[in-house]
Amino acid sequence: MAFARLERDAWTDPSVAAAYHELWTQFVAPAIPRLLDSALVGSGDRVLDVAAGPGPVSRAAAARGADPVALDFSLPMLRSIGPNVPRVRADAMRLPIRSASVDRVVSNLGLLHFPEPEVALREAARVVRPGGVVAFSVWGAEAKALTIVPDSLRALGLSSTSPAAPGFFRFGEPGTFEGAMRTAGLIPLPSERVEWSGPVQDPAAFWRMFRSGSARTRASILALSEADQLRLQGEVERRLKPFRAGDTLAIPTTVVVGRGRRATAP
Ligand SMILES: C[S@@+](CC[C@H](N)C(=O)[O-])C[C@H]1O[C@@H](n2cnc3c(N)ncnc32)[C@H](O)[C@@H]1O
Repeated sequence: MAFARLERDAWTDPSVAAAYHELWTQFVAPAIPRLLDSALVGSGDRVLDVAAGPGPVSRAAAARGADPVALDFSLPMLRSIGPNVPRVRADAMRLPIRSASVDRVVSNLGLLHFPEPEVALREAARVVRPGGVVAFSVWGAEAKALTIVPDSLRALGLSSTSPAAPGFFRFGEPGTFEGAMRTAGLIPLPSERVEWSGPVQDPAAFWRMFRSGSARTRASILALSEADQLRLQGEVERRLKPFRAGDTLAIPTTVVVGRGRRATAP
C-alpha cells in the first residue's frame, strides 16, 4: 500500500527522525502529561508506548515510576531514545507482545500515521490486561499548527495527488474515538481535549518541521518544484504572522485523547 510505504520511508530516514526529534519534541511536550493522566499511568504500571518516536512519553512514564517499553518501527527513532528505556522495533498493527500483559497502552500522535488505525486499536485492546486502559492522542481538526501548510497548498492551487490514506483529522471528530474504542473491544471512556500554544523558534523552524520532520506533508512539499516550494514557504510565513510572540511563535494547537478500558473478567 502506497501510504504505508510513504510513512515507513519517511520515519526510517535518519534525517527525518533527527529533524522530528530536534523540531517537534518541545512542541508536543504539553500533551504528554495529559496523555499519561488520561491513561491513569502511575507508579509500577507496565506501559506500552506505541509509535514512541524519540521517546518523550516513555521517559515521562518512567519519571512517574512506571515501567515503559517504547515501540516504534523506525530504528533511527528508537536509537534516539537515550538510555534506560527498553525498546522494541515493531509495527503498531502487529504487536509482538503477549495478550493481556501490560497495564496501559499509550500512543502520542501515532494513530494518524497508521494505514489501518482500527487494527492498531484492536492490537492495543488485545495486549492490555483486563481493567487496563488504552489512550491514543491525535491532532484536533482545529489545530492551527497542523492546518497552515495544507491550507497554504490549497490556497496556491498546489495540492498534489497523495496516496489514499485514513483522514488525518478523522479521530479528532467528536464521538469518533468512542465508536472506535467500542469496535476494538474496549469500554469507551470520555475523550479529552488538550489545548495549548505550541512554541516554535521562528518561521524557518516551522517550515522545517514539515519540510524535513513529517511524513505526509513532507511528501506533498517534496513533490513540488523548487519554485513552488519557495512560493509555498512564503505563503506559510504570511499565515504565521498573527502568531508572533516576541521573537518566537506561539501557535494554537489541540489534541484529542481517545480512551478505552478493557472489561474485567465477569
Ligand atoms: C509523530 S511521531 C510521534 C512520536 C512520539 N510519540 C512523540 O510523541 O513525539 C510518529 C511516530 O510513529 C511511528 N510510526 C508510524 N507508523 C508506525 C507503525 N505502523 N508502527 C510503529 N511505529 C509507527 C514513526 O516512526 C514515528 O516515530
